[in-house]
Amino acid sequence: MRHDNLLSAGQLSREDIEAVLDRAAEVAADPGRVAERQAGRLLALCFFEPSTRTKMSFDTAIKRLGGDTVDMGTVESSSVKKGESLADTVRVIEGYADGIVLRHPSEGAAKLASEFVDVPVVNAGDGAGQHPSQTLLDLYTMRENAGLDDLTVGIMGDLKYGRTVHSLAEALTNFDARMHFVSPESLKLPRGVQFDLHEAGARLREHTDLEAVLPDLDVLYVTRIQRERFPDENEYQQVAGEYRIDADTLDRARDDFTVMHPLPRVDEIAPDVDPTEQAAYFEQAHNGVPVRMALLDELLGGDDGGAGR
Ligand code: NCD
Repeated sequence: MRHDNLLSAGQLSREDIEAVLDRAAEVAADPGRVAERQAGRLLALCFFEPSTRTKMSFDTAIKRLGGDTVDMGTVESSSVKKGESLADTVRVIEGYADGIVLRHPSEGAAKLASEFVDVPVVNAGDGAGQHPSQTLLDLYTMRENAGLDDLTVGIMGDLKYGRTVHSLAEALTNFDARMHFVSPESLKLPRGVQFDLHEAGARLREHTDLEAVLPDLDVLYVTRIQRERFPDENEYQQVAGEYRIDADTLDRARDDFTVMHPLPRVDEIAPDVDPTEQAAYFEQAHNGVPVRMALLDELLGGDDGGAGR
């Protein structure tokens, strides 16, 4: 991957994606081989929004590569509280670390940050925009469970505010996947995302009901309704709990069906799906570590002092 930053899934070619996934598979098979690859390197974790998986798996990934992290902590405890701009914050942090992982409530925040610093920036979620490192682990999980060729993928839930959806859909155009988007009318894909997908030649259809497409799907990617992004709580209440699956749903799907979810879930996947063979979402979360190890290794360079930078 010849990139200095990971800001959006649209920047990734099929070759870029396959290189990271192949590397992640090597790392997963023999993590000991890369245990010192990033020795002495520091990764800054700048999370302006809540996170469990993304933050902890980046933390784990750099440590498993022999590096370490410096953590901005919560917004409440940082100088952001005093009115510091994002540009100033990242310019300061650049002096402490070799790379920055940034999650921020504003769309475009990671791109903006990358314009002010020379160290690599990873977009770990920018509002309702993009979440490209999640996409890499999603694709890794899809490849392990269903393969990436000739895929029919359902993407269900909050397609409007769900940044994981926007990134995943863009990346899937590289594999010519058939995509079925399932959501209430009010949470359809934003026009801008639709436009980009059409430009990329995507094969997509939109539905308000899962049942009609369910038997065709290899993978169903379920998402949480992004309550925190609704301008109006009443609007959230109108759609909350509408798009759920449970073990009975699986009976109407193919035998080799795979259920994914970026997590956290609220109630969109019933717990009776968890013990089934189709449930891949905990495995998906665990894949975050080898995939982010592979990604960091690409972005930070090897133990030669930073190849390509
Ligand atoms: C997602 C996110 O933050 O966009 N979580 C994650 O990183 N796995 C999904 C979500 O919050 O619903």
